[in-house]
Amino acid sequence: MLSIDVVTIFPRMIAAPLAEGIVGRAVSRGLARVGVHDLRDYSENRHRTVDDAPFGGGPGMVMKPEPFFRAVEALLEGGPGRDDAVALLSPRGDRFTQKTALRYASLRRLVLLCGRYEGVDERVGRTLATEEISIGDYVLTGGEVAALAVIEATIRLLPGALGDETSAACDSFCEGLLDHPQYTRPAVFRGIAVPRILLSGDHARVRRWRRMEALRSTCMRRPDLLSRADLDEGDRALLSEIERGSLEARPALESMREAEPGMPKACEEVQDHEPHGKS
Ligand code: ADE
Repeated sequence: MLSIDVVTIFPRMIAAPLAEGIVGRAVSRGLARVGVHDLRDYSENRHRTVDDAPFGGGPGMVMKPEPFFRAVEALLEGGPGRDDAVALLSPRGDRFTQKTALRYASLRRLVLLCGRYEGVDERVGRTLATEEISIGDYVLTGGEVAALAVIEATIRLLPGALGDETSAACDSFCEGLLDHPQYTRPAVFRGIAVPRILLSGDHARVRRWRRMEALRSTCMRRPDLLSRADLDEGDRALLSEIERGSLEARPALESMREAEPGMPKACEEVQDHEPHGKS
C-alpha cells in the first residue's frame, strides 16, 4: 500500500480535498494512506517558528531547514529507502508528469514537503529531499495545491482506485497522446451533432476514429508531445490523412518539424504513406 505524508504549515488545505471523490474512496478502501503533518509541530522553539530572514538580505522570509529535517526524520526513520521518495514542491523543480505519477504510484512511501514564503532553505532540496518537483511554469503561493495535484494524479493510478480498470490506461498522456473527444446524449445539442460514426455501432471504425482524433488533437494542440509519442505504422498513416485533409494541421506539423528537426519522425514519414483503411 502506498503511504503518502504531506508536511505543510496549512494542514487544513490538504485534508479536506482528499476526503472527496476517487481519492477519498481509495483512501477509505485502504488502497493508500495519506497523513498530513503540521510543520510547526517540528519547530525547535516554543514559538513554533518555521521561517527566518534570508542571508544576504532581501525581502520576505525563507523557510528554515530544521523543521523539515525533523519532520522527515520522524516520518522515515533511517532515511528514505529504495522504494521511498521525499519530494519538495517548488517552481524550480523538475516537471511533474504522468510518468512521475506512475513512478510515485509504485512507491512504498512518498513524503511531500510544501514550501511557502520566498522559498525554502536550499539544504532541504539538496540534501533532505530525494527530488524537487514543479507542477508547471507558474508560481503558486505555496506547495500545497501542487501537492494535491501530485496526490490525485498518483492515487488514481493505484490498482482498484478507478471504477473502470481500463480508464487509466486510456488517459490523455498515458500513450504520449492527448485523449480523443468524448460525447454523450443528446445526439444533437443546440444544432451541434455528435460525429455520426460514434452512433454507428461499428466498434472497429469507432476505434479508428478515436485514434485519429487523438492524433489530430495532439497534432493541433501539443505537437511537442507528438514528436515523443510511441507511434506505429497505422498511426503514421492516420497522421498522413490528417495532414492531407486539414489545412489547419499543416502549419502545426510544419512548425513541429522546424522546432525539432530529427524528432518528428512520425510526421515526416507519413508523407511517404498512402492512406489505408486499417482499423
Ligand atoms: N510552489 C510554488 N509554485 C509551485 C509550482 N509551480 N509547482 C510546485 N510547487 C510550487
